[in-house]
Amino acid sequence: MSSVFARHSMRPSLRNNLIIALAALVSVVAIAQGLSTYQLCRTGMSALLDLRLEQVAMRMRGDLADAIPSAPARGSQPARDIVITIARPGADVPLRSTDPSLALPANAPAGFSSESVNGERWRIYTLRQDERVIQVAQRSSVRDELVRETALTTLWPTLVLLPLVLFAVVVIVHRTLRRLTPLGLAAQSVDAAHLKPLPVTGVPREVLPFVDSINRMIVRLAQLIESERKFIADAAHELRTPLTALQLQADNLQPHIVAGNQERFQELRSGIARSGMLIGQLLRLARADAPLDVAVEPADVSPIVVDAVSGVLPIAAARRIDIGAEAMLADKVAASPADVAIAVKNLVSNAVRYTPDGGTIDLRMHREASALWIEVTDTGPGIAEESLPRVFDRFFRAKSDMHADVEGTGLGLSIVKAITAKYGGQAIIQNRCDGRSGIVAAVSFPLASV
Ligand SMILES: Nc1ncnc2c1ncn2[C@@H]1O[C@H](COP(=O)(O)OP(=O)(O)OP(=O)(O)O)[C@@H](O)[C@H]1O
Ligand SMILES: [Mg+2]
Repeated sequence: MSSVFARHSMRPSLRNNLIIALAALVSVVAIAQGLSTYQLCRTGMSALLDLRLEQVAMRMRGDLADAIPSAPARGSQPARDIVITIARPGADVPLRSTDPSLALPANAPAGFSSESVNGERWRIYTLRQDERVIQVAQRSSVRDELVRETALTTLWPTLVLLPLVLFAVVVIVHRTLRRLTPLGLAAQSVDAAHLKPLPVTGVPREVLPFVDSINRMIVRLAQLIESERKFIADAAHELRTPLTALQLQADNLQPHIVAGNQERFQELRSGIARSGMLIGQLLRLARADAPLDVAVEPADVSPIVVDAVSGVLPIAAARRIDIGAEAMLADKVAASPADVAIAVKNLVSNAVRYTPDGGTIDLRMHREASALWIEVTDTGPGIAEESLPRVFDRFFRAKSDMHADVEGTGLGLSIVKAITAKYGGQAIIQNRCDGRSGIVAAVSFPLASV
């Protein structure tokens, strides 16, 4: 679990990359746009305030200047007010001023200038006319404050919109990439046993070539696996005939073998028999692996189970093994009767083969959800836990002191697995969990719909 998580967190994520890149882009655009409007607004406001100073100065050229008292009321002027001063050039005291305590520099250049007066910065417009110097001034700090306040209000729309746009980016990227999720899940379920092409409906155009080439690969792979399987089936089939002939010849030869050579001759015969068994199992495995192309007639399971038991009765009786079937059910399963029979026979033959003399073997059936289970329980040695995960592997044979001399090909359970997988069933091998030694081998097939 933790390794899966680690793998996920290490992987570059298309979604995260897109979200981060788009969010960064949107933020940069928003910041640039915010800064530029802020700047534009500041310059605009400054120009406007300057224009006002200039206009006031222009008005003072006429009679309006007389409205300014030559000795204004004592007391401090509001800080935001503009100050108007009219003086004669060269005179120390102005003719008229709205704030006589402020001595504006009469030698300031014509037009706009910024000067320091009484320890404060002032923006001054100076107009020289005939015998008068008209100066209109405003505190720089007041201007700056006005400019800043106005400029800041231009940032509001961006500040409100930015989180909304970022949220939209996350939602859009999320929803767009969500269309890839079903595709990923379908691709994940592809394996040798389920070589189905990926669905192409609803797949975005950009991803389609990718899915198409994967699908072509899946088809090629399925063809390759199928031709491999056919080759094995054909080879096993072809080998059967010469091997049967060999067996016949050996049988015919037996009476002519001298007594001293009989033991070695028996070894030869059992070697031939082992090869025959191996070829038979190979053929069954190749057939079990064949894809299901025709609809199957439902299989009645109880007769198959009874048949499998009666098939081993003579051997079981000879070895005093008590074998019996109980809890028989009349259900039918959606699988070919021949395949079900092979699966059950393999389990029963294992139980008989690996259970010591005098043991007990029980067959049971039970329904679970929409599947029918067939269970074979024995009193054999069981299987070492470390070997359990491999018992379904081809040619795997678990080593045990108790049946070191028992022969087998190691293909029986692979055949069982292939058959159950073909019909969508399961095969499970477990050690008994009731405290006794032995195996519980179980297969399931989907119930036939009635
Ligand atoms: N009932 C059982 N009790 C103990 N061990 C078992 C049992 N069934 C299977 N095994 C172990 O699992 C291994 C694999 O079984 P599998 O049926 O695939 O092969 P096999 O029996 O050796 O050969 P085959 O069935 O092809 O003749 C066996 O070799 C055996 O070691
Ligand atoms: Mg077997």
